[in-house]
Amino acid sequence: MRNNPEDYGKGNMKIHEDQIFIGNVPVSTLAAEFGTPVYVYDEQKIRANYRRAYGAFARHYPDFKMFYAVKCCNNPAIVNIMRQEGAGVDAASVNEILLAKSVGLGGEDVMFSGNFLSDSDIRQGLESGVIFNLDDLSILPRLLKFGKPEILSFRVNPGYGKSNVGDFVTNAGPNAKFGIHPDDVLKAYRMAKEAGIRRFGAHMMTGSCITDAEYFPFVTGLLMDIIGRTGRELGIDFEFIDLGGGLGIPYRPDEAPLDLERAAELTARMFRSKVAEYGLKAPQLKMEPARYFVGNAGYLIGTVHSIKHSYRTILGTDIGMNTLARPAMYGSYHHIYVNGKESHPRKALGLCGQLCENTDFWVKERELPEDTAEGDLVVVENAGAYGFGMSYQYNGRLRPAEVLVNGGNAMLVRERETFEDMVRHTIVPEYLKK
Ligand code: LLP
Repeated sequence: MRNNPEDYGKGNMKIHEDQIFIGNVPVSTLAAEFGTPVYVYDEQKIRANYRRAYGAFARHYPDFKMFYAVKCCNNPAIVNIMRQEGAGVDAASVNEILLAKSVGLGGEDVMFSGNFLSDSDIRQGLESGVIFNLDDLSILPRLLKFGKPEILSFRVNPGYGKSNVGDFVTNAGPNAKFGIHPDDVLKAYRMAKEAGIRRFGAHMMTGSCITDAEYFPFVTGLLMDIIGRTGRELGIDFEFIDLGGGLGIPYRPDEAPLDLERAAELTARMFRSKVAEYGLKAPQLKMEPARYFVGNAGYLIGTVHSIKHSYRTILGTDIGMNTLARPAMYGSYHHIYVNGKESHPRKALGLCGQLCENTDFWVKERELPEDTAEGDLVVVENAGAYGFGMSYQYNGRLRPAEVLVNGGNAMLVRERETFEDMVRHTIVPEYLKK
């Protein structure tokens, strides 16, 4: 079925006569031109993902704006694509604010949702003129020491979170480090109002990778009850409500995708009904997804360098936990294809990277083409989100290159790291050189 070039399968993987394509470029061409391991992003797919997500919500609530949480994949080429599509940026740090500014976004097109901020974060955030989503009320007096923001939002922990990735990225509820307890939300906005701040928004981010459509209206209801009561009590007209990210994608071939239409329709309905219930002046609706835009538009291509037949048969590739941390970190599943062999008979094989750690043996057993051989290319699917962004240098295995594909064009958008990058910024005291 996946041999039909028109069949994009779960994650847009296009396979023709066993040759794998990203956009219209064969992975063999990408590997020959850019080497491996290499992250490859499909621009058309990113744009289509954005338009589908934006369209679904905007159809049901036209005063709607999306922000791209750049932590997910911070290549400036990708951030520019999102800007061209109309997205703002959600920044987790001052450097991510600077990244937004470098592509021409600033002011109210940037949300600063960092947590446990330092004084320097606060000062630079204020100077940059972006919108703060303050993660705690204790930050407010510290912020006021440096100045008074024009507009302010607090991150609410509505007491409930969820994630397909597991507890690892359940970002709200009693075990999460994020957001303000519902009992303190009124106090936070009262403090801000008494300090003379006049324009307000509210924010939450309760979990990442959620494919249950009903969850989004449910958690919107929780937030809106907290915000509705606060608005009524303090006479605040909230200018915006930001529901965070969390739009999930399927990682396993048999997993059902998020019913985006249903999530959007039910969320907008819940939002409107709560706005009416609490008599709020209709706020702008915001979201700040990331994975949904780039997750299934990103692929990681690696090479099988060596095959070991020992207790198990293990394919040794140049894709390790340093290149793609998610499997070792969260036990996450990523589908793997072998170029040129997808239609061949399969058997249970292991697959690992080249690091001196056994967590790098990230596929213990998977049905893969039985004749997979040295030199074959493997393609890891759904690698666009939290892939390169969470990669690191370890064992002298450096960060891979990044390539953007647009139709038949492939463009290098980040160079592969070199030894000079590995030792850059290190300083050896003179006496140690003797
Ligand atoms: N907004 C805030 C404040 C966030 O912290 C995040 C992600 C997002 C938006 C975007 O969430 P998304 O739409 O992608 O779910 N490393 C984990 C995911 C961690 C999510 C962190 N926050 C993973 O690889 O699954």
